[in-house]
Amino acid sequence: MKKITKAVFPVAGMGSRFLPATKASPKEMMPVVDKPLIQYAVEEAIAAGITDMVFITGRNKRAIEDHFDKAYELEAELVMRGKEELLRILREVIPAHINCIYIRQTEPLGLGHAVLCAKPVVQDEPFAVILADDLIDGDTPVIKQMVDVFQRHQCSILGVKNVPREQTRQYGIVSSTALEAGLELVNGIVEKPKPEDAPTTLAVVGRYILTPRIFHHLEKVHAGAGGEIQLTDGIAALMKEEKMLAYRFNGTRYDCGSKLGYLKAMVALGLKHPEVRDEFAAYLQSLKNH
Ligand code: UTP
Repeated sequence: MKKITKAVFPVAGMGSRFLPATKASPKEMMPVVDKPLIQYAVEEAIAAGITDMVFITGRNKRAIEDHFDKAYELEAELVMRGKEELLRILREVIPAHINCIYIRQTEPLGLGHAVLCAKPVVQDEPFAVILADDLIDGDTPVIKQMVDVFQRHQCSILGVKNVPREQTRQYGIVSSTALEAGLELVNGIVEKPKPEDAPTTLAVVGRYILTPRIFHHLEKVHAGAGGEIQLTDGIAALMKEEKMLAYRFNGTRYDCGSKLGYLKAMVALGLKHPEVRDEFAAYLQSLKNH
């Protein structure tokens, strides 16, 4: 029985939809209420028992490395001022048993290429891929749900959600046959089909569990549209060779790579945050009454 101990976080994208916010720091460092997107993603992995966090970074890697590094001066300052609660929050960013590994993607050649960059660290183990800009709020963290499915099936798993047909152009879309509640056997995947060409409306969103055989296929994939190496192309090749499942996860997903999705996440999580939720709810209500 294989276990998932590594998660890959591709954080080397251009984040062009969020310029100028992403001019000097990656979009995964944008905060939702008080935590950057990448921290939500790492916490999700930790909750699934994953211990090795592999970040595929790009030109703005410093902010992410610093975020998960020990902040000696800041800690010393907080100790001096007796700010115990803030100190606790700071120290909880990364628990001691977690390893952070950084790999540079020297050019943004696509998500498939970013995942391939993790090969020297992941080697021949199955692993998780988490796109931090897909923030998923679920009672059970989604990658934990998927790791549980992996324990039973020992194969690649794609996190999927139904999307409105007019949005298929933004996603990898799978065709599948039902296996059990919430779980389907994947028999086809296409990248960003036009609504009229999409075989279904079942979209892959930023959570994957992949077997290491994916690297073999990604090495052979040629750059597609926009000169990028698409993860979907590697998955399509892998699917022909190995069993692959689509998992309809439980949870609300916010596309924080888009302005509207990011704003929705901010409102939803703001309304849940113990420190501000009551006043924030009252403020939103007051806007409605205007
Ligand atoms: P996106 O398709 O959202 O692209 O990438 P992007 O560049 O981040 O954002 P826009 O479209 O320009 O606004 C999906 C995920 O893949 C990562 C991104 O960081 C994001 O998590 N990615 C993408 C890489 O790590 N490397 C790449 O070459 C491309």
